Parts: sequence; structure tokens; C-alpha cells
Amino acid sequence: MDDVRNAEPGAKADSAISCDKGLLRFVTCGSVDDGKSTLIGHMLYDAKLVFADQVQALELDSAAGSAGEGELDYSLLLDGLAAEREQGITIDVAYRYFATRERSFIVADCPGHEEYTRNMAVGASTSDLAVILVDATKGLLPQTYRHARICALMGVKRFVFAVNKMDLVEYAQERFNQIVAGIDELMCEHSHVGYDLIPVSARKGDNVAAPSAKMAWYRGPALLAFLESVDASDARGGQEPCKAECGFTLPVQRVCRPDDTFRGYEGTVASGSIAVGDAVRVLPSGTTSRVGSILAAGQNAQVAREGQAVTVSLGDELDVSRGCVIEHGSSVDVSSLLAVKLLWMDDTDLVEGKGFLFRIGTAEVPGTVYEISHKVDVTTGDFLPARRIAKNEICACKISLGHKVPYQVFAENRSLGSMVLVDRVTNATAAAGVIEHKLNRSDNLTYHQMDVTRELREHQMGQRACTLWFTGLSGSGKSTLANALEKRLHALGRHTMLLDGDNVRLGLNRNLGFTEADRIENIRRIAEVAKLMNDAGLIVLTSFISPFASDRRNAAEIIGADSFFEIYVSTSMEECERRDVKGLYAKARRGELANFTGISSPYEAPENPDAVVDTCDEPIDDAVERIMQLIADRWSEQ
Ligand code: ADX
Repeated sequence: MDDVRNAEPGAKADSAISCDKGLLRFVTCGSVDDGKSTLIGHMLYDAKLVFADQVQALELDSAAGSAGEGELDYSLLLDGLAAEREQGITIDVAYRYFATRERSFIVADCPGHEEYTRNMAVGASTSDLAVILVDATKGLLPQTYRHARICALMGVKRFVFAVNKMDLVEYAQERFNQIVAGIDELMCEHSHVGYDLIPVSARKGDNVAAPSAKMAWYRGPALLAFLESVDASDARGGQEPCKAECGFTLPVQRVCRPDDTFRGYEGTVASGSIAVGDAVRVLPSGTTSRVGSILAAGQNAQVAREGQAVTVSLGDELDVSRGCVIEHGSSVDVSSLLAVKLLWMDDTDLVEGKGFLFRIGTAEVPGTVYEISHKVDVTTGDFLPARRIAKNEICACKISLGHKVPYQVFAENRSLGSMVLVDRVTNATAAAGVIEHKLNRSDNLTYHQMDVTRELREHQMGQRACTLWFTGLSGSGKSTLANALEKRLHALGRHTMLLDGDNVRLGLNRNLGFTEADRIENIRRIAEVAKLMNDAGLIVLTSFISPFASDRRNAAEIIGADSFFEIYVSTSMEECERRDVKGLYAKARRGELANFTGISSPYEAPENPDAVVDTCDEPIDDAVERIMQLIADRWSEQ
């Protein structure tokens, strides 16, 4: 049976053709063996986009290489990247620029192997279209599924599958149709992505820059002609609303105040357009106003359009800052709880409870991945249960943000619907993600301000509430020091409470163990309890190993940096093990205790603690006095 794409000449490809042929950014996906470099190399060669000296070098190198007699090895034109790859040099994405008479192109050329998933995600994230290579002799491989899934996740809305090596399957339409059937099935899962298929021979040049006489049964365009005419913004041939219909959105990048009289909001219009005098809404606050003026390219303008970098002023003085979105008629919503899909890219695994800085649009907000719902088998698309997510895996999870942010569902808006997770300690990009939907309960919870406030309670108790957070190895002397400090405070008539590791784990946290995820949750709950006690006016002392820097940072954020003192009890590992008060070091050494801090689980020492105490060198009373002074100094500064 003829495939519709072939029976109706260029049926699908034509539906995507537009008259606006601006710049096309595309990503090429395929491994070395698929012929990716040969395909792009051949296209550049045939389109006469290669310099004369490159052609000469190509002829010489090809003669010396493995190409058939008189044949050119077009992959050599893109060899720079391949050479780096062979040497195992870490490479990012190579961007190549070329232009034909019809259109200009930016190709994100990234390695296809699984270990380079991150590079492919980066390349795909800025691309309008993906050229996915399929080897006709091998059919669909696990990597084809992976490439399609990553590109779809990163928001590429149009794919073209270049079914390569057709020369090696006698240019057989039947073989092509078999592959088409597999791709149709694969693409059912990505219904928001439009796709086309072109049978090619990258080596012989069939359907690369010119139509092939050897595949008369295919009546669609050659790859280059297709790329020259495709409208990649239109994923499904006009079935999707265009961005203008999605309403106006301007994520605010910067507030500019050149003088007291003018306040402008700078950013790039993400969708739609707006005119001076039009009504707008500012999110997340929901306040409304009208556009007072528009400045585009240094000139006053009446209208701001999608893609333009503009400065907009409003008729009213509103509280607008970086991360806000100015909108009109869009589907931008606000939430602090979201269901997202993540591509995990960090070397260390993701576990539930981990905290990050989330970048969504221009907003940057701390938050946590509080639940891993499942991971997605990148090859089959199956959902698998998972407690941890390793590098290059895709997972669905739920996130909780420090405050509400404006967002859109990814299928509706790529820029406001995607996010980057930044590790707060290393500053590295840990994951890229897309927003699937919000979790409604965030709408139904409102923080109530009570009449008897923390300040009133503090006043009644005659003290300032704060949390003294002791961190250090088991046996370092945290509890002894915290106990001595509490006695001193108590003697001075202060109202205090001491939260201690073992005690809390026997009660509130009895369901938690010592895995990374459980430790994160242990510290989160303690920080929340300390915060409640601070709100009650109490001075809180906490004594927990709290081995992870990011968790202590989260704790400081929950409690409030002004009220948080980090005290590092730095007694050495050797000394703690020598003391071994509870016999746990010996047990851990015998392999009878898993995840024991310092032996089989790491301890990350604080980089900038408020105080460091080594209980080996300093008498407890001296350390207590030092900490008392530290508190007095902080209060006198404020
Ligand atoms: S934390 O890492 O989650 O902050 P926490 O301070 O609450 O730990 O509890 C540490 C106490 O639990 C230790 O002082 C020790 O008595 C006990 N303990 C039992 N198993 C472990 C373990 N695997 N690692 C560390 N401490 C353990």
C-alpha cells in the first residue's frame, strides 16, 4: 500500500510551506554511523556552500580515506567535531551557519551518543526543527526513540526524519514504508509535533540538495528544498493557534529607572503584540494598568510585537520586578506547585526533597523537587517507578517553589513553559524541564496573618527569637555544646528549646532513615519546626549532623537568614571516631551500619559558617561565650 506522503506528492511537506522564510534553526540528530556528517556535508557541497580550498582538501582526503573510488567522503567537511569526539574531548554543541538564496540556517550539530544527551538537549532547546537520521538498513534504533523524545521534550515542534542509506536498500519504497510505519507509531506519543519523512542517500546525494531519479515513487521535496521552505513555527499545518492568538506576554528582565519620573520594564515580547493605551495585567500580583509608552530600539513606538526587545512603561505605579510577566489575553497563570517533566543532567542522582534554584522565564526562585512520580524509559516511553534519577534520564515529578511564579503549560508556550534547575551549591545546570500542569491545591492555600504576631510574642518574652544551627559529624560535640549554650541562655532568663538529632528521630521523624532523600526530609521538617518555634518567640538550638550544604541552605531560607546562625562543630573525623561514644563508627567500619556519615556517606563542611568550634581545642565554656557574643553582635548591628 502506498504511503499517503508518496501517493500525494509532498502532501505533508507542502502543508508546512510558508512564504515567510526567515532564519531556520535546526538540530541534527544521529550517531556517526547514521551518516549525519555526510548528509550535512553533502548538502553544503551540493549547495555550493563550501570554499574552493575545502573542496580541494576534501578530494585529497577522500582519496586517502575509505570512500569508494572517485567518491567524496562528505563527512570530512564536518570532521572537526568528529575528531574532538574521538579524542574524548568534552564538547558542547557546534553551531554552523550557512545560507542559500532562499534562506539562512543555523545548524546545531551535536553528538548523538547517549552520554551526550545534555548536549543534544542544549542544541534542541534553541532549534525550530530537528533533522533525525534513520539508517534504512537498520530501521528504528533505540537512539531514534531517544532523539525524538529529547527533541520533543525540549520543545522542537517539527521533525523531519531523513531515512538515509536508501542506496544500500536498492532505493526500495517498501523498505521506506516499513520505516514510515514505525515512525508513525513513535510519533503518536508526540502529538504536538509535526513531522515529515524524506528518503535520502547522504553518500550519493539522492534527495539531499536535488530530487532523486532513483526514487521516482517519492514525490516530495529534497531535504534542502524542504528546509528552505518549511514553516517550523507551524507544527501541525495550521491546527495550532499561532502565537499572536495566544495573547501578549512580556517577561520582565529588568526594571529601569533613569530618574524619579520614569519607570520602564525591559524584556523581549514572548508572544503577541500590544499598543500604547492597551489594558495589561501584571503577574504574579494580578494588578492591572494600561501601557503608558513603548520604547523599541531606542525609539518611541506605538506597538510592541513578538520577538522585539522593548521597554514598556505603565499608567500606574505597580510593584513590578524581574520575573514578573506583563500580559494581555494570554493563558499565563501563576502557581507555586507544578507537575513537570525533567531531563536530569547532573552527575549526582536526583532524589526527592532536593532543593534548587528554578529559572522559569525571567524568574529565579528557590524550590524543591518534592516528589518523583516516575521515570520515563527513554527508549520505549514506558513509565517506571523510581526513587532516584540518574544522569540522562527523563522523569515526571512535582515541584514546590518558594513563591508563586507566572508560567504557561509548555505545549502552549515554550519560553514560559520551560525551566532550568540550577544546583545551588555548584551553580551547575542540573536539569532542564517542561511544565505539564499546575497542582490545584496551591490555589486553595493562603497564608493567614494572625493578630498576635512574632514581634508581639518576642516583646512579651523580652528577647529576639533565632535559630542556632549546630552541624558536624556524629560525636563531634554538637549536643554537648548546644546543651551548655542552652543552660547559659536559660540562666539569663531566656526562653529556649533544643531540638536534638536522636530525640527528634525517636518522635516526629521516626519514619525517616539515613538515605539521602530521608536526610533531606529530616532537615526540612526540623527547619519548619524551628521556624514555628521562632514564630512563637523562642530561641531554638538544633543539633543535627545535617551533612548536606544545600539542605542547610534550605533550612536558612525557611527560617530566614537574619534569624539563622550556622555553627560548625569541626572536630576531626579521627577524633570523633576515637571518641565513638555510641559505638556507631565501629559498627559502620564492620559494615553493619549503612550510610554512616564520614564513612559511607559524605559530610559537606560549611563554607561560611557564623562560627567554627573544634571541641578538641576549645573548652566548651569559651565556645559558649563566643557564641553569646556572636548573637549580641548580630542584634546590635540590626
Ligand atoms: S542527619 O544526617 O539526618 O542530620 P541526625 O543528626 O538527624 O542525622 O541523626 C544523627 C544521629 O543518628 C547520630 O548521632 C547517630 O546517633 C544516629 N545514627 C544512626 N545511624 C546513622 C547513620 N547511618 N549516619 C549517621 N548517624 C546515624
